[in-house]
Amino acid sequence: MFIENFKVEEWFNKYEKDSVYDLADTCVDSLSLEELFDLVGDKNLHLDEILKRKLNYGDIHGSLRLRKAISSLYETQTPENITITHGAIGANQLVVMSLINHGDKVVSIIPTYQQHYSIPKSFGADVKLCFLKEENNWLPDLDELEKLVANDTKMICMNNPNNPTGAVIPDDMMSKIVEIAKKSDAYVLCDEVYRGLNHEGNPFSVSVSDIYEKGISTGSMSKVFSLAGLRLGWIAANDYVISQVNHHREYNTISVGIIDDYFASLAIENKDKIIKRNLEKIKTGKEILTNWANSEPNVRLVVPRGGTTAFVKYNLPISSVELCKTLQEETGVMILPGETLELDGYLRIGYANNFEQLQKALKIFSEWLS
Ligand SMILES: Cc1ncc(COP(=O)(O)O)c(C=O)c1O
Repeated sequence: MFIENFKVEEWFNKYEKDSVYDLADTCVDSLSLEELFDLVGDKNLHLDEILKRKLNYGDIHGSLRLRKAISSLYETQTPENITITHGAIGANQLVVMSLINHGDKVVSIIPTYQQHYSIPKSFGADVKLCFLKEENNWLPDLDELEKLVANDTKMICMNNPNNPTGAVIPDDMMSKIVEIAKKSDAYVLCDEVYRGLNHEGNPFSVSVSDIYEKGISTGSMSKVFSLAGLRLGWIAANDYVISQVNHHREYNTISVGIIDDYFASLAIENKDKIIKRNLEKIKTGKEILTNWANSEPNVRLVVPRGGTTAFVKYNLPISSVELCKTLQEETGVMILPGETLELDGYLRIGYANNFEQLQKALKIFSEWLS
């Protein structure tokens, strides 16, 4: 089976190990177990519990405790509507491989995580792209989306809050997207890995799985909970979708690790503390980034409203790949080129990680630009 190169992941593989200042990362400063225990308490009790556990396969579709905790992140989902996966990357792949066949029509709203267009293409789907535009504050143009979603579209793939732009689709706009999908009875796969990190108001946008029978939400521990190392994600969807996914899942997952399942449950049960910590970090990073963008004449920024990344327009006659490659070679500053996300002329900056590094790296970048 042919599949296109995953440009973002390949960029990371090539450049991350040599970077001195990593502004490409999308996680909020990851937690160690020690920090997790500091936040949730009862360290010895949890350690005793873990030490006693037999390392068997555990509950095949994820423990009831974990699926209960995950369902608390939604309005209408139950533990039965959730299956546990190897990260959101496993979740997205399973959804598409379970529901999309050769010749099916798929519309992907991009820029986004490349899985959402390259995987359906690899299965022989006819994939149309709906580009987000800076002049719309990176929100989808619903007229354009409606035109692309012909009456036989099988699935709309999207991501909210959006990586790389940091745009958050307002709840009423999400309902309109669902209306468009309903006209062709299409599934809406919404990658919601950053759901819980809205910068203002309720950190959680509405989930597509709560407002649409054919809405499929994927999520994970990586961004909102700062626990990417658990490699644990999930799918929330209707019974039919979950049964199809579980049928395919037998072939590539069996179960996730029981230790990962344990810590994911613990973290989600303490979501308020972790999300509070993360939103504070995001606030600090965003302030550094926006102050820099306001004082740097060669860039333009639509201020992000959710998640951990921003998509910055730069004003130089050079491709984003060339810019990022030369910048890193000459200064050690790693930024992700927009070309890896199908939009040249832009740079993705992750700003929620290490503020000392962020400050220094942006200063170095400005000196380099001038
Ligand atoms: C939008 C989006 N979806 C999925 C993933 C993969 O997440 P996970 O670490 O849970 O596999 C990422 C990681 O950067 C992402 O940004």
